Amino acid sequence: MRRTGVALLLAASLAGCGGQAAQHRAAPAAATDGAALFASAGCAGCHTLAAAHSHGTTGPNLDQLAPAYDRIVKQVQNGGAGMPSFRTKLSTEQIRAVALYVTGATAKSRVSVAAAFKPDHRTVQSCHADSTCFQQAFADLAYYRGPKVALARFVHEMRTSSFVEENCHRIAHAIGAGALTRFHGDVGTAFARGSAVCWSGYYHGILERAFQGIPDSRLATVARGLCARVEAHASTFIAYQCVHGLGHGLMIYTGYDLPLALHTCDRLRTQWDQVSCTGGVFMENQSSSYGFKSQWLRPKQPLYPCTAVSRRHKLYCYLMVTSQILPDEGYSWTKTVAVCRRSEPGWVPTCFQSLGRDASGQTRGRVTKIERICRVAGDMERECLLGAAKDLTSNDANGRRAARLCSGSPAAVRAYCFYGVGEILGTFTADPRQRAAQCRALTRERSCVAGANGRPFPA
Ligand code: HEC
Repeated sequence: MRRTGVALLLAASLAGCGGQAAQHRAAPAAATDGAALFASAGCAGCHTLAAAHSHGTTGPNLDQLAPAYDRIVKQVQNGGAGMPSFRTKLSTEQIRAVALYVTGATAKSRVSVAAAFKPDHRTVQSCHADSTCFQQAFADLAYYRGPKVALARFVHEMRTSSFVEENCHRIAHAIGAGALTRFHGDVGTAFARGSAVCWSGYYHGILERAFQGIPDSRLATVARGLCARVEAHASTFIAYQCVHGLGHGLMIYTGYDLPLALHTCDRLRTQWDQVSCTGGVFMENQSSSYGFKSQWLRPKQPLYPCTAVSRRHKLYCYLMVTSQILPDEGYSWTKTVAVCRRSEPGWVPTCFQSLGRDASGQTRGRVTKIERICRVAGDMERECLLGAAKDLTSNDANGRRAARLCSGSPAAVRAYCFYGVGEILGTFTADPRQRAAQCRALTRERSCVAGANGRPFPA
């Protein structure tokens, strides 16, 4: 089976990252400080926290409480009910660091809703505006009547209930967990009966649960085995969902331990598996399935963690980086452009490709709006258009809208834009003649065929 592009993550040429075998783990930053502070500030003396090997009992057990980040910050600042205030003892930075550390260290217990699934005959009708209830009810449905029934009902509920729609990703995770339990842990069968509804949450839920009880030292071995079985029987699309979902599942399962998740991806069998997996890791990092703020994001360092990860992981990090910058910049394209320009040397164009991908996504593929956004990119307009053209082509599964974008773009960048269209079209078929025909149906630019056949630009 060919291992080529299905989604935006595979939309980039891999030329930049091929052949770099060295595996470095990103340097842990705030996590280490937070861990040290947890001990030195005396938190350990009063609280139980498994990650810190502490067994204090004066305050609540933090593993069980799994408090949210904001709540920890508030508590450490203000103290109260037997806990001293740390406002004068720790700086704001230090309070944040220790809070991040506790959030990260307890994330596993907080997010294991899907993983901890136990069937209990809950019905969907009995749930009202309670996400945990819906998760349980839909997981039950998948467990008792199979994922197809559960997913069909889920799609129906999403259309009729805005609450279910807004909370769909976690519910989809739970359906995956219920299905995996029904099939006695057979990932391949659970995958084959699923769908990608609500950002593939179903697949993520399966993988999240599949890791349950696996020690870190065996993660990579287990990860390799999980998708190998799926890949042997399924379409490229499902195979992609597996390795990509693996990235999401690894982040969730390791409690958002980015270096460990990336390291595990690196140990998958093929480069295709590895990059699809790291794409899932970065995506989960940017926007957690559990509304959890990853400690590998820093509001004042919008390009982090791309700036910190090893070279082999930078491409996929930068290709998605604007999705984390935009919300922080109030969805201002001008401000996001300014941030992209501060990317590390050599990665500025990649950031602008990410910008184009978001321009396509945020405008739901409206060509005139994309053009306007990409113009803001100035001399990087061509990278923006390339990113947008690739995104359009992969989302539409054809190059028609992208060709409209490229044809309307300035003459100097048109060939480059069509090159991107070709790169994605090339993933739809292995036959060079078909590739050329697909391109010729859209444009006379020869760069499209070059992109489709994996030749460098300019043609
Ligand atoms: C002298 C003992 C003591 C120390 C030191 C201490 N705590 Fe506490 N902590 C407590 C007690 C007691 C409570 C329960 C307060 C309550 O019930 O409102 C608590 C509550 C909490 C809570 C729960 C807040 C909530 O919303 O329920 C968090 C989080 C927390 N502590 C974090 C920390 C951190 C982080 C540190 C170190 C910077 C720390 N604590 C240091 C005793 C302590």
